[in-house]
Parts: sequence; C-alpha cells; structure tokens
Amino acid sequence: MKFLTNRRKFLSLTTAATGWLLTPVWAQNDSPPRPRKRGGPGGRGRRDARDYVLPPELAEFSLLSLVLGRVSDHSVTVSSVARTTLEGYFEYGTSAGNYPNRTALAEFAAGHPVETVFAGLQPDTEYFYQFHYRAPGETDFKTRAECRFHTQRAGGSSFMFTIQGDSHPERPQMSDPDLYARTLLQVAASKPDFHICMGDDFSVAPVREVNYAAVAERYTLQRPFLGLVAQSAPVFLLNGNHEQASLFNFNQADDRHAVAVLAQTARNQFYPTPAPDGFYGGDTEPLKDIGLRKDYCAWSWGDALFVILDNYWHSPVQVDSGFHEEEGGGGGGKNGRRDRDWWSLTLGDTQYHWFKRTLEQSRAKYKFVFAHHVLGSGRGGVDECDLFEWGGRNKRGDWEFNQRRPGWEMPVHQLMVKHGVTIFFQGHDHLYCQQSADGIVYQEVPMPADQGYMTYNEDRYQSGVKLPNSGYLRVTVSPEHVKVDYIRSFLPKDESAQNKTGDLAHSYTVKPRGQHA
Ligand SMILES: [Fe+2]
Ligand SMILES: [Fe+2]
Repeated sequence: MKFLTNRRKFLSLTTAATGWLLTPVWAQNDSPPRPRKRGGPGGRGRRDARDYVLPPELAEFSLLSLVLGRVSDHSVTVSSVARTTLEGYFEYGTSAGNYPNRTALAEFAAGHPVETVFAGLQPDTEYFYQFHYRAPGETDFKTRAECRFHTQRAGGSSFMFTIQGDSHPERPQMSDPDLYARTLLQVAASKPDFHICMGDDFSVAPVREVNYAAVAERYTLQRPFLGLVAQSAPVFLLNGNHEQASLFNFNQADDRHAVAVLAQTARNQFYPTPAPDGFYGGDTEPLKDIGLRKDYCAWSWGDALFVILDNYWHSPVQVDSGFHEEEGGGGGGKNGRRDRDWWSLTLGDTQYHWFKRTLEQSRAKYKFVFAHHVLGSGRGGVDECDLFEWGGRNKRGDWEFNQRRPGWEMPVHQLMVKHGVTIFFQGHDHLYCQQSADGIVYQEVPMPADQGYMTYNEDRYQSGVKLPNSGYLRVTVSPEHVKVDYIRSFLPKDESAQNKTGDLAHSYTVKPRGQHA
C-alpha cells in the first residue's frame, strides 16, 4: 500500500480526484460481468466491484440509476448516474400517467451524479414521475418506467418506512448480490415513504491505493442496487465503522486522512444526503477539505420524529475497526483500537447537546433513533446500554458519568428514556434481535444479503427475540401504534415450504408512550 506522506501530496490528489471521469464507469455495473467469485458461508475472500453486480434481468438499473433523497414537505432531489452520456428531462405530477410539470433538458455525463430538484411540491402528497432520455445526437427519447414518492406526511396520517442492516458487499461470505437484489425488490414493492441503511454498506477496506476513484467506487457500486428502491423511496444513509469516515482518520497525518475525506465526499456526491435547513436539523460545523459532513440529522414525518446519530465523526479516538486493520495495519499504535479508553468513544459535546435539544423540542407521538451501534463498537444491544456515555457506568458497574461527561445532563440511554424514544435501531451485529430496556425497544436490524442465513453474535445478546438473516424491516406508523415486521428473503435454491421470500418472521407493535401494547 502506498502511503501519502504529506499534506500537499494529499491536496493535489483530491484536486485531481474531482475529475469525475476518473470514476470507472464499470462501477455502475455495466455488463457483462466477470464470473462471480462465490464465497460460501464462513469463507472469507476479497471481492472487488466487478464481482458485485445486479442479475442480468435488472440490467437497466445498471445503465441508469435514479436515487431520491433530501425529501421534504415541498421538494425532493433525484440524483441520476448514467453509464454513458445522456440528455434527458423529468416529468412529474400528482396522478399516475399525468405529468403537468417538466424539468429543463439537461446533460447527464457518463459516471457523473447529476441532481435535479423537484420544487414547489404540495405537502402530504403522492407524486409520480418519469425520466425521458436519449443519447446525444438521437432524436427520439426513451422513457424509464414511472416512479413515485411522497412528500412529508401530515400529523395523524399512517405511513410506512423500511430499514436494512449491514449489506457488506465487500464480504463474499455474507453478501450475495442476487439475494441483495431480491431483498431490495421486495422493499420496493412495499412502497415505503423512505428507506434507511444502517451502515457498513460502503466499506473502503478493499481500497489498496487511496485515491478518489478507488474510494468513490465503493459508493457507485451500491447505486444500481439501492436504486431499485431509491428511485421511488428517498434513501437515508448512516456511517458504519467500515466506511472509515471518521474524525480519528481525518486527524491522522497519513493516508487515513484522505480516506476519511474521500469517503464522506463521495457519499455526499453520489447520494442526496440532507444538510441542515428549515426542514432537517443536523451538523452545522464544516470541516476543512469536506465542508458540511451531513452526518447526524433529524426530521419529522407524520406523528414521528426521526433522528440519525453518527458514531464516528465526533470521536477523537478510533471507535472500532481501523483502515486496513484486519490486515494488521491501522488499528494499532497510539490511540488505535487496542489502546482505547471506552470513555473516549463519544458522540461529542456538540452532537449530544443537539440530540438533547432535538428530543426536548419535539412533540412527536413517536420518536425513532438510529445509530450504527450503541457506542459505535462492541456487541449487543441493551447488553451495552448501561455502559460509558450510553449508560453512565464503567465495565465494573461503577457510576463514572459525572466526572467523565461534565456538562451532560444524563447518559444517552437515560436521555432517550426521559424523552420517550419509541425504538432505537442499530446494525453492526448482523442478526435480527428485538429487545427492550426501560420502555425503549432496542432493535438490531438484520442483514439484507447474507446467503448463509446466519444469526451472528447471538451469544452477545442475553435477551430478546433473536432470528437469523436475511431480510429487511418494514415499520408501519399509525395513530394507534407502530408495527415492526421482519420480512425474510431467500435465494430461490434455498426456498422451501418453511422458508420463502416474503415470509413474515416476526412482528410486534409499540403503543405511544403512556399506553401499553
Ligand atoms: Fe459495523
Ligand atoms: Fe457490519
């Protein structure tokens, strides 16, 4: 691996990197793919982007991916990435097949994300849109099938959103592209208002030489897959530990700084992630070389508050796995994972106080909080919720919170209890597990594409309903209650009378605070 040794070298690298055409267009999945390397359950191997492609019947999503994001009460942004240069325009309106609004004809350069904003929309309204496109020089337009989205729901309405756990495309042993596509097609068919990814979806571990094209490829790899859902459901992303987008990396003098900058930059260029504005709350502090990180954020939808926390962008020490740590680099040394003081892992003062303010100011009936993991590291759900800044105690059970977090009213878990958080969602542990503590559901979100159908880390969960991968969560919010469904997904060869794609593996309801389910 080539290490950059000084900041000037890095800056020249990032300048060159903003040349979009450096992004390999095959990262958009243009076929024909090479024969896939298949890692069986338990096998560990390395996989690059060319090994992780959509099945042939979904090839059109490789040629052009549409990803919605930044949805609000009056607008939505659609990010388009075309494999070859196109020109095109969108039409949209409030009834299927009838599009009174039309955007200007624009160029969509090969491999280059282009954002188009549909503005002036009505709140709490379903919209339908189509994309018309042609190659430069052609006269006739082709038309992509109609897609849909919904603007912010009004209070008192019912709606549904979906969640996927760690998709880990870089790991052949726990991520099969065909199974991932099957899961995502099911998500799309359920027509959620939006789709939330819990992190570890864009691992930079396979990056051998740090440059923009190599890091961006981790983000473009997912576009055709997530586009299956995100063309009709705005997507929200969390950083996991494997994205390596972290303050610890950012503060290093070697190429880990570049990894952090390039990962967060590519993420925000290839996905329309929200920045703080009148609709979204979030991180207002810009960082040199990145600008706004767009990491933690909050918004309201119907009777619910949504809060996404970031475990990695505000902790001065390494929170979990380091860049190339699995191969013996990165994680050791001063302030590496092996040295860490668990009290040093932190959401940071600014994020904590923003979170506290956001909870205090919300009058929502339901509150959903998302983070890659309790503390960003370790294993387990409620099993960890009394520890360190999440719960106030050290591993011996002694209360150390007051001296270790001066100025904080209470630990994160107690803060969520005080303000009536309905469900805390996390990923990272690679299984389905529903637990509860002090009136809050802790929900570990299963993997969408684990062809081994494993229940990873189940020994680290001492309570709750534990079930194997793969599938996704469907969360239906209504005035009466919240209903969480775990929908399973299988490869055709693995289906049986007992195990079929679309099976409901587990379901539960949660009443608003003060009522009992
Ligand atoms: Fe993780
Ligand atoms: Fe993971």
